[in-house]
Amino acid sequence: TFVIALPCVDVKDKECLEACPVECIYEGDRMLYVHPDECIDCGACEPACPVEAIFFEDDTPDEWRHFNAVNAEFFADL
Ligand code: F3S
Repeated sequence: TFVIALPCVDVKDKECLEACPVECIYEGDRMLYVHPDECIDCGACEPACPVEAIFFEDDTPDEWRHFNAVNAEFFADL
């Protein structure tokens, strides 16, 4: 799955929503989140984000690695 990390917080550009072919990106209060079970790993969202907030889960920078769990937990709470 791809994940959205810190650069999205309070930016919420939403170009990723347009790029995603399966609509697996959802809006939260301060950022957006990728649904890990719905993401098809196509990678279309990654270059679409102007602030480079989106990463393939294995490539999330170490300091933002917890956003892998943050994305998944957003959906666990719904
Ligand atoms: Fe956020 Fe980038 Fe999408 S800022 S809403 S991850 S295009």
